[in-house]
Amino acid sequence: MRFPAVRGPAGTLGDGGRLLFLVLWLNLLPRAAGCPATCFCYSEPRPTVACQQQGLFSIPTEIPTQSQRIFLQSNKLTVVRSTSFSSCQNLTVLWLYSNNISHIASGAFFGLERLEQLDIGDNSNLRIISPTAFRGLSKLHTLHLHRCGLSRPPRRCVPGTLLPAIPVPPGQ
Ligand SMILES: *[C@@H]1O[C@H](CO)[C@@H](O)[C@H](O)[C@H]1NC(C)=O
Ligand SMILES: *[C@@H]1O[C@H](CO)[C@@H](O)[C@H](O)[C@H]1NC(C)=O
Repeated sequence: MRFPAVRGPAGTLGDGGRLLFLVLWLNLLPRAAGCPATCFCYSEPRPTVACQQQGLFSIPTEIPTQSQRIFLQSNKLTVVRSTSFSSCQNLTVLWLYSNNISHIASGAFFGLERLEQLDIGDNSNLRIISPTAFRGLSKLHTLHLHRCGLSRPPRRCVPGTLLPAIPVPPGQ
């Protein structure tokens, strides 16, 4: 890579000036593939955004749309919004375990038709999940909800997933 020559009226910039210019210039470049600042992004074997163990309190907003795997486990996330992953149509693996999630918007996973694995386990303050939250996840084969504070697993909403069977009382 060649850096453009920078010359002021008095000749070349000093080392400090050159360094400052380089820093400014790098900051003006678009971030490679738009990776969120606190995450590590890679494309092989599949487009992946790895943001685990970053102390994050919220889900980064600029997750690349081509992401197929998103790792957000072991942070301090508290909510999953309906827009958090809505632009990631190719998402197949989403790990949100070991956070402090207490609210998941009912539309949080809408449109994620390719989602295969969803792990929201170990979020002990998660007491309620909207019955519609898992609607349309036709490819989902693994759903982890262990060690959540759920009063009732959303069993009837997720046919075909690996939830423990709960006997349904007569009359329901
Ligand atoms: C999703 O994957 C398809 C190929 O299966 C690709 O054509 C499309 O561009 C991808 N979408 C995004 C947002 O990357
Ligand atoms: C978890 O979130 C609740 C609010 O929902 C907050 O009061 C609590 O301090 C958080 N706990 C940790 C360990 O961050």
